[in-house]
Amino acid sequence: MEDRGGWREAAPLATQEVHAGERYDPATGMFVSPIHPAVAFGHETLEDLVETAAGRRDRFHYTRYSNPDFRLAEEKLARLEGCADARVFASGMAAISAALLAHLQAGDRVAAYRDLYGGTWRLLTEVFPRYGIGTRFVDTGDEEGLARAARGARAVYVESPTNPLLREVDLARVAAIAHAAGALSLCDNTFATPVYQRPAEAGIDLVLHSGSKYLAGHSDLSIGAVCGGVEALRPVDSMRRALGGVPDPHGAWLLARSLKTLSLRMGRHTANARAVAALLRADPRVARVHYPGYSGMLSLELASGGPDAVARLCEGLRLFRLAPTLGGVESLVTVPRRTSHLTLSDEDAGRLGITDGLVRLSVGIEETADLLADLRRALGLALGKSS
Ligand SMILES: Cc1ncc(COP(=O)(O)O)c(C=O)c1O
Repeated sequence: MEDRGGWREAAPLATQEVHAGERYDPATGMFVSPIHPAVAFGHETLEDLVETAAGRRDRFHYTRYSNPDFRLAEEKLARLEGCADARVFASGMAAISAALLAHLQAGDRVAAYRDLYGGTWRLLTEVFPRYGIGTRFVDTGDEEGLARAARGARAVYVESPTNPLLREVDLARVAAIAHAAGALSLCDNTFATPVYQRPAEAGIDLVLHSGSKYLAGHSDLSIGAVCGGVEALRPVDSMRRALGGVPDPHGAWLLARSLKTLSLRMGRHTANARAVAALLRADPRVARVHYPGYSGMLSLELASGGPDAVARLCEGLRLFRLAPTLGGVESLVTVPRRTSHLTLSDEDAGRLGITDGLVRLSVGIEETADLLADLRRALGLALGKSS
């Protein structure tokens, strides 16, 4: 199989999505990559087996170490993120935990902005402390506080835009703060995707993804990824071998297949979400809309009605499915305080502004008018007609 090249010089994102990492097989004419389900790869000689096992020969050996389908997805995603390389994982949390564990040890400390996905929050506040790794949190956007917390820390961790309040973080400042303190910088890029934000270009060392969301894009694949430079990824690769959180080869292949339409899907998610945000902002029954103007994620707070109105809104929607995920082609709705941010204490949730009345929408790629009609109808069920 050969990479025919020829497209690289121009290489805007949409072209990279389709071609990066793909191989052409002149023997068969096959231009769609095959799937490699093998758990292990054969060797002609014992010497080759031994040398490959020892890591002195760069060959496929055992799928927990690497696999051609992993490499296809990794090369494509690394190119999209503007990173030297990437590693795929079984889920976003497998990627995030392996990336942090790869660079931390007992006694180390993390500095982080407080707005984080609930699973990451739990990892940093409940799991890591059991292994002697603490985290100092500061309010999102408090750069002076982050600089103070970063002093003596091994890693600086942020998410942007944040889940579920869509707060944006200045990633160049975060990278500069981390590097001034001699710490590694990490950013979860799940919500923006490389279509809207390339953290590595801002100086971030490791870019993390729940690929289960926009990258895979169809709510049918659990997968994660870590992108970065060769040096920062080396311990991540080693940790992946040790912990074993690799995806199924077919899943990695599906991720690569889905990445081919990433820009196309994101453009449509954004167009629909902009229309939804405009509708909600003009509606007096909605007190607040959180939307950064790109991607398909937004959250809203109703002006009145309490938890009952929230339930009527969520249950009244027909196209928006009530489900605890995001980034799929179908529109989705959830109440983060009751799902993704369930494990936060009332104090922590209150400090962040994640209330029981906060509703998160993941706007899909359906016909815009249908989504707007669905929302209008459900708002009517929740709070009656707008005057
Ligand atoms: C921003 C963000 N990061 C990470 C994760 C975890 O990803 P996964 O569910 O694939 O483990 C999620 C899941 O919702 C998320 O929203």
